[in-house]
Amino acid sequence: MPNFSFSSTAEEVTDGVSLVGKTVVVTGFNSGIGLETARVLAKRGAFIIGAARTLEKAERTLADLGIDGAAVACELSEPASVRAAVQTILGLDRRLDVIICNAGIMALPERHHKYGIELQFLTNHVGHFIFATGLVDALAPDGRVVVVSSGAHHRASEVGITFDDLSGERSYEPWERYGQSKLANILFARSLQRRFDGTSRVASSLHPGVIKTNLGRNNPKDTQAFYEQMDPATLKSIPQGAATQCLLAARPEAANAAGRYYADCQPSPSSVRATDDVLAERLWQVTEEVVAGLE
Ligand SMILES: NC(=O)c1ccc[n+]([C@@H]2O[C@H](COP(=O)([O-])OP(=O)(O)OC[C@H]3O[C@@H](n4cnc5c(N)ncnc54)[C@H](OP(=O)(O)O)[C@@H]3O)[C@@H](O)[C@H]2O)c1
Repeated sequence: MPNFSFSSTAEEVTDGVSLVGKTVVVTGFNSGIGLETARVLAKRGAFIIGAARTLEKAERTLADLGIDGAAVACELSEPASVRAAVQTILGLDRRLDVIICNAGIMALPERHHKYGIELQFLTNHVGHFIFATGLVDALAPDGRVVVVSSGAHHRASEVGITFDDLSGERSYEPWERYGQSKLANILFARSLQRRFDGTSRVASSLHPGVIKTNLGRNNPKDTQAFYEQMDPATLKSIPQGAATQCLLAARPEAANAAGRYYADCQPSPSSVRATDDVLAERLWQVTEEVVAGLE
């Protein structure tokens, strides 16, 4: 991988890369690093399929960006909406070169749950599981799935995935539950890669850095305190925050990223649990069961 690092921007890591003729799907493309990702990959020539909670938001975002693309409604915490989004995208009849599972919610102060699943786990992991596995048949032979996780996956290092309390009813701590959902993102990418093995398809995951976006909207006081106690030098701008996922989506060298976790535009160590393939496979099986029950 060229010498990209913490401070590299999405434009820098994709400089000289042509995505003309390529189709990229991005969830949560109306805000934060998803918006910058869509903007920059479109600038490199990609046709963007942008997913947002509502069609209106997605259409407005495409119009604001002034880019070539298709707008799709996808509310990740509603399985019917995710399945409808999958059908809409398949109906476009385009070969998908990259699927970026970017959308997310963080550290909800109170426990919220739907369908018996804690909302961060449902949105960040289960919704993207339905989305990406639903689209995989349309993925190009050398297509990529890029899953946006977080360094906060370490917050679940002790508990791992609480399979016996997926609703969070017995125990709920906002950051630990966010951490579980982000651990699940990494494990999902690993398990998907195992299913891609022997092909040229690549699944990877990443920590984008710490960036002031709208992600703290559900927990503004806590998030503000978090930013205040941080050394400003450790914060990234939005263009820097979008760099690692743009690199994994677009750079030819990232064909080597199979099953790996990146941060600061380079391969990075993750928690021990995040490299546990037995846990990853169990998560895949349990998620399939959960999804089957969400008809
Ligand atoms: N910012 C950071 O410091 C940081 C650090 C580590 C990891 N990350 C990860 O980076 C990713 C992008 O976050 P961001 O910082 O760019 O935050 P953001 O500005 O809040 O963007 C999040 C996006 O996800 C969408 N979203 C949230 N819930 C959704 C749902 N139920 N269905 C569909 N879309 C939904 C949001 O839509 P609405 O605008 O409609 O709510 C928004 O488009 C997330 O996965 C996050 O966990 C961020």
